[in-house]
Amino acid sequence: MKSTTLLAVVSTATLALARKCHDIKVPVSISAENMVFDLEPPTTEIDVTNFYLNLAQQGANFPGALTTGTAKVSGHYVLQTTYCEPDDGPGHTLQVMTHGVGFDRSYWDLPFQAPKYSYVAEAVDVHGYSTLTWDRLGVGMSTHPDDTVNETQLALEVAALKALTKRLRAGKVCDIPTPYHSIVHLGHSFGSAITYNLVNDDPKISQGIVLTGFSQISDFLGQFALGANFVPVREVAALAARYEEGYIAAGSAVGVHIAFLPPGGEFDPDILDFGFAHAQPHTTGELLTVGVGTGEINAFAGPCMIITGERDVPFCGGDCMGTAPVDGKFDNLIQASAPMFPQASVFNATVVPKAAHGLHFGYSAPDVFATILDFLGTQV
Ligand SMILES: *[C@@H]1O[C@H](CO)[C@@H](O)[C@H](O)[C@H]1NC(C)=O
Ligand SMILES: *[C@@H]1O[C@H](CO)[C@@H](O)[C@H](O)[C@H]1NC(C)=O
Repeated sequence: MKSTTLLAVVSTATLALARKCHDIKVPVSISAENMVFDLEPPTTEIDVTNFYLNLAQQGANFPGALTTGTAKVSGHYVLQTTYCEPDDGPGHTLQVMTHGVGFDRSYWDLPFQAPKYSYVAEAVDVHGYSTLTWDRLGVGMSTHPDDTVNETQLALEVAALKALTKRLRAGKVCDIPTPYHSIVHLGHSFGSAITYNLVNDDPKISQGIVLTGFSQISDFLGQFALGANFVPVREVAALAARYEEGYIAAGSAVGVHIAFLPPGGEFDPDILDFGFAHAQPHTTGELLTVGVGTGEINAFAGPCMIITGERDVPFCGGDCMGTAPVDGKFDNLIQASAPMFPQASVFNATVVPKAAHGLHFGYSAPDVFATILDFLGTQV
């Protein structure tokens, strides 16, 4: 009897620290000016490899060569989100997070040795934020648009994030009645490119941004395109039943390692297997539009952090401290983005030693979380 009471007290105490999360589907009606590509979705191994060989060819201007113009795309889509708040009610600020290519919304709350690799757990349980993660269009449990070339593209996903943010700010998402006056946006990789465009289009929409796994150096995207061992989704057992033809995913754990993880024993080998088992696909329309708008000077006037691992392959060619592509004019390749944010109240470039593009998968993940949360806590 006594030990049962003790157990009850202990579990209540544990619960007191636990965040409250629930999955919410958010319908949005959106439109965007997308690019039109003269391309059939690649569906065979050879077609997929040809696509990436062309994308990675030096000096090729591959997206440009395929473009026949732009067209307005509009539709109704359903976004799968997960909302979390501290157990004693809504947090002081809402963090909205957009994942990158290769993952779904669980990137922000990895269920691997939880909560060690969970940014969400740290943000909500320790720092008192509310969080909202969403599956990008085409990924996971959000709508998979019919056209993987002309529809699922950066511009449409920017429109989706904008619609979602406006509803959250107004307290108009069913099951999240709290109107949030303070909303910050985090992105990873392609999700950072989406966030970059969001705040450039509508600078007041966010009170702060953190672009993770990102830079504005495009020279090295080809290394990612070739190194990730991309194959048609039907060849990846974990994904074949859930995605239509035209989706593309990493074909092996080796591809995931090259694209996302550092060399030198800086990650738990089991998290690589976990990462491959939970990897998600992307579309050609997304990879062809990853650079849209990110060469424009950004109008955002709030605090901005860009953070990635020193060994980031797609955005730094495996060395963010190597400054050759920027003529040695900046301390590192991330700092080279400073002139792109002339109005930002603070611009912070952070290169994380020994980490790579998939910042949440390395042993340094807790340091990454602490750095981001320190920035948001002191600057927003
Ligand atoms: C995208 O649009 C172009 C122009 O209409 C067309 O040639 C191409 O087949 C379309 N792609 C898909 C996958 O429908
Ligand atoms: C960037 O922000 C982090 C977190 O607040 C801080 O530790 C670091 O000193 C900042 N870097 C610069 C160059 O200000």
